[in-house]
Amino acid sequence: MFDMSVIEGLCKRRGFVFRSSEIYGGFNGFFDFGPLGVELKNNIKSAWWKDFVHRREDIVGLDASIIMHPDIWKASGHVAGFSDPMVDCKESKMRFRADQLYFAKVSVEGEVIGYVSVLEDADMQAQAEKKALDLKRHLAKQGQLDKIELFDYTHARPDEYALIPSPATGKPGSLTPPRDFNLMFQTYVGALRDETAVAYLRPETAQGIFADYKNILDTSRVKLPFGIAQIGKAFRNEITPRNFIFRSREFEQMEIEYFISPYEDWKSLHRKWIDDCKKWFVSIGLPADSLSEDVHPQEKLAHYAKACTDITFKFPHGLQELQGIAVRGNFDLTQHQNASGKNLEYFDEERKEKYLPHVIEPSLGVDRTFLAVLTAAYCEDEVPSEKGTPEKRTLLKFSPRVAPYKAAVFPLVKNKPEIVEKARAVYEKLQRRWNVFYDASGAIGRRYRRQDEIGTPFGITIDFDTVEKDGSVTLRDRDTTKQERVSVDELVSYLSEKIDV
Ligand code: GLY
Repeated sequence: MFDMSVIEGLCKRRGFVFRSSEIYGGFNGFFDFGPLGVELKNNIKSAWWKDFVHRREDIVGLDASIIMHPDIWKASGHVAGFSDPMVDCKESKMRFRADQLYFAKVSVEGEVIGYVSVLEDADMQAQAEKKALDLKRHLAKQGQLDKIELFDYTHARPDEYALIPSPATGKPGSLTPPRDFNLMFQTYVGALRDETAVAYLRPETAQGIFADYKNILDTSRVKLPFGIAQIGKAFRNEITPRNFIFRSREFEQMEIEYFISPYEDWKSLHRKWIDDCKKWFVSIGLPADSLSEDVHPQEKLAHYAKACTDITFKFPHGLQELQGIAVRGNFDLTQHQNASGKNLEYFDEERKEKYLPHVIEPSLGVDRTFLAVLTAAYCEDEVPSEKGTPEKRTLLKFSPRVAPYKAAVFPLVKNKPEIVEKARAVYEKLQRRWNVFYDASGAIGRRYRRQDEIGTPFGITIDFDTVEKDGSVTLRDRDTTKQERVSVDELVSYLSEKIDV
């Protein structure tokens, strides 16, 4: 597996993702999606919307406002509890997530000689052991080092805070005790800038769905079980945004609240949601064997939750959560009913009974899906060059469903007007349906490689045979590089079968 810098480098080089505000030195935790990135991202979102809204009779869509009544976040529990433990280094002014800062007591044959600290990382144990050895040497201690056992800083005892070195300076005495840091971005609404005007950028799209649930119930003729889906931006003031777009401060979510009767067999519906979501990932190009499930143990669930399973994916930085699928009981609707004073009950006509429905919540990040799609698509292989010698190439094996460009059209030569005219005509015909690229410059092999690197699945070349013989074009497959001749008339239906799945 390649590391994240390979994906980051390709994203920058080919215009998928840039650091936000780069000409001003960047802005940590924020990213811009360039010409290819915005296409890939839009294609992911529209594939999701098509499969989970348009192609289902039981799910409707919503686009709620980003800034909502601040009481929503009090009722949901976010004002009181949506926080991460934070620790400051008073000397360097660096800030860390306490649960990502690890420390260990260093002892030599039972005698404690000090502490070491490291930041969470795949090889943090080895880093800590090296630091412990350095400390032993520095103090000129003889004897065997005892086993190094790492704990995160939330487990440090108050008398240890002053003894644990800051990862920034390597010296003890500058770390503060951990304290809760609320991740919601605050703003003010209206002309006043006091406590009464405080509002929040939403940290999840889910609460907008609960807040509009009653409106949708009253206007859409939905019956349980039914879902409300929403795609939109969410914001979290992460203490340590990292791993490229995996954890950023501004991101986009695709969430569904699937409302079910409290009498429903939620376990089998939960299982079905996990299976449906995995199938969807495969439909956009993630190999089935790159996906796994992480079932949250009962003791780690929120008090109101009945179950939660994460679908995980092998990202360049390890096996990590791609999507969480939680069974949340009716906690959110109960909270909003109590806080708003509005009755949010559903009338079950069959049972002649009113109740607050329970929910299953599949929650997915667009940016994480984007990163997973890129990770799964990236590969390097060798193909014969125009001279027949093996040539290394980098390619993105995007599924045609999500590829930024669906096809590229090439006139074989640019000094033959009939060929160029025909190529422009084919391009303009395809362009009416899909995002298609036109490239007339350079050797044809180079033009193919450029498209391989940005993941364009089909290359269409208009050559002498097209204008002098049967009107057919060559259609080149990105992954196999095999070419076949297809008539121009059949081109659209041929491509449509592969692209519009
Ligand atoms: N609504 C769940 C989440 O944002 O993670």
